Order: sequence, then C-alpha cells, then structure tokens
Amino acid sequence: MPKILFVCLGNICRSPLAEGIMLHLKKKHDLKLEIDSAGTAHYHIGEAPDSRTIANAKKNGVDLSQLRARQFQSSDFEEFDQILVMDKSNLENVVKLAKNESHKRKVSLFLNSMYPDKNLEVPDPYYGTEKHFEEVFQLVYKACDHLRQNYR
Ligand code: 4NP
Repeated sequence: MPKILFVCLGNICRSPLAEGIMLHLKKKHDLKLEIDSAGTAHYHIGEAPDSRTIANAKKNGVDLSQLRARQFQSSDFEEFDQILVMDKSNLENVVKLAKNESHKRKVSLFLNSMYPDKNLEVPDPYYGTEKHFEEVFQLVYKACDHLRQNYR
C-alpha cells in the first residue's frame, strides 16, 4: 500500500491537519493508502495537535485528538513513498537530510499536487487567529480531496 507522510515545522498545526483530513477521506472513500505526519523541529514531540487546530477541525467534522507529534527522521525516506511538505523551509530542511536522489525525489510541496509547479505554501496559522485556522483547514481539505483521486 502506498505511504504518504505530511511534514511541517512543529507537527501540531498543518501536517497533523493534513493527516487527519486524509484519514477522514480514507475512511469515507475506502482509499488504499497509509498516512502519517511529522515535524522538522523537535519542540512539540509527543504533544497533541494545537488546541486551536483540534477545535477548528472538530467544527469541520474531523477528529485530530488522538494524533501525537513526532520529529521527521532519516528513516522516513525509506518508509514512505511520498513526503509532502507544507512550505519551502520544510522542503529545504527535509531535502537536506536526504542521502540520495531517490530520496530527494520523494519530497515535494504539498500544494504542488493540486497546483503543479506553482510552488505555493500552506501558511502557518500558529501566530494567527481563528480566521487563519479556518482558511488553512479549507485549503488543506481541498488539496487532500484532490490528492485522494490518485489513491482510489
Ligand atoms: P506547524 O505550526 O509547523 O504547522 O505545526 C507551528 C507550530 C509550532 C511552532 C511553529 C509552527 N513553534 O514555533 O512552536
């Protein structure tokens, strides 16, 4: 089964949201894929997603409460088929850890799956307001719904 890893900085806002939405869509559409998420930083290891991310996702029908943050590690290059990062800084940090071209090729900006070659980023809502969390939810949901077409 194909395995996708979503990556952001803290693994408490954007990437667990993508993981939770994708798990929700997997259940809904019986998708054949495995999903996980990680952060490039170590700040929040073991923590649940940000309470604002959990609350906003819940409002939109997606449960993130059981997810726990972990840090991206080199072995993830072996483990996963696709490593989808939220922004250009995540891209740089993950690619830096790749030991060969085949690992590098697995890494791409998440939004390029929906908007090829546009190199758009999922904005970090961490220092934002409820409005930003809602915008990020809608954007990530749309991109996940697009991505799932590849895994029917
Ligand atoms: P995330 O957001 O990368 O989407 O999980 C952030 C979460 C925490 C921090 C930065 C971004 N932080 O600096 O603690």
